[in-house]
Amino acid sequence: MTRILFYLEDYSHDIWREAVRRVDPSVEFRSHPDWGSPDDGPAYAFVWEPEPGLLARYSNIKAIFSLGAGVDHLTRDPDLPKDVPIIRMGDDGLKEGMAEFVTMSVLMHQRGMPALLAKQRSKDWGRFFARAAKDTRVGILGFGALGQVSAQALLPFGYDIAAWSRTEKPEYQGISLYHGADSLNTFLARTDILVGLLPSTPETSGLMNFDRLSHLPEGASIVNAGRGSLIVLDDLMSLLTSGYLSGATLDVFPEEPLAKDHALWGLDNVIITPHIAAITRPDTAAEYVLRNIEKLERGETAENQLDMKRGY
Ligand code: NAP
Ligand code: GLV
Repeated sequence: MTRILFYLEDYSHDIWREAVRRVDPSVEFRSHPDWGSPDDGPAYAFVWEPEPGLLARYSNIKAIFSLGAGVDHLTRDPDLPKDVPIIRMGDDGLKEGMAEFVTMSVLMHQRGMPALLAKQRSKDWGRFFARAAKDTRVGILGFGALGQVSAQALLPFGYDIAAWSRTEKPEYQGISLYHGADSLNTFLARTDILVGLLPSTPETSGLMNFDRLSHLPEGASIVNAGRGSLIVLDDLMSLLTSGYLSGATLDVFPEEPLAKDHALWGLDNVIITPHIAAITRPDTAAEYVLRNIEKLERGETAENQLDMKRGY
């Protein structure tokens, strides 16, 4: 019998229990705080932002499933169990959600939506014409699962797309590929709309500072749906207020929720969304977790297992 120990604050656990039951009614779904005792037998944790120290108290946990693709909510725990595999979310629902969000955001910036909304607020009919998609260079920072589905979703519009990753990738039809720190400035210099889809690691934290952002051409815009630690917010704000950058859609922030008195809220050319770019869907996630538990039970490696050394 498979046992799941589930942790998610502020949301109904019943929806998740039901989603798991639909995939496999024999699974025992224990909702925090009713996780029982570590002596009850082997279990799999399925968690989002668990309180630090909690997982270490359950020596019966055989693997930890992150309810999201990011694992920074786990690795911040100094007592995170060391010898237990950690599996990142990579279900179809998450990919579909991100592809939608990135497509929506890139289209909004290409068509000048932040400026149009500002004009609406001041009842200004003045028209302007957007640059065509085929003349717009999109640059995706992070070409993993979510970067790739987002690029695929954008291709039919005719954008000129490039992607940047840590390691070199084989050729990818229709997309120019860059990798490694040495190519970053060149990649930025050919990018009109920059899409952040990087995990939070020591290498990516603060990567987009004033100097890096200044390598983007004047008038470029930013969409960040990876992690907020990527961008030095003060640097971004000064480039947005000076008009060097034309706009930004930000879904993630160094501190969440974004403080009510933060100056970003007041910028006309910024669209703020509350970390909803791709929310894990119970139906596809339950299927993904149970499929991977089966793999682990067969002695196989799960999909998207966290590599602690890489940090993602
Ligand atoms: P993934 O498949 O692991 O892909 C990560 C990508 O980032 C890879 O291409 C990797 O390069 C690249 N990368 C990592 N460190 C790098 C570095 N130092 N320099 C250059 N490239 C680097 O992850 P994913 O599933 O696409 O998810 C990406 C992130 O999106 C997650 O970690 C999470 O933080 C965020 N996310 C946000 C939301 C939201 O709602 N806002 C939802 C889901 C996920 P290689 O290909 O060379 O390994
Ligand atoms: C959401 O931010 C995720 O990591 O899936």
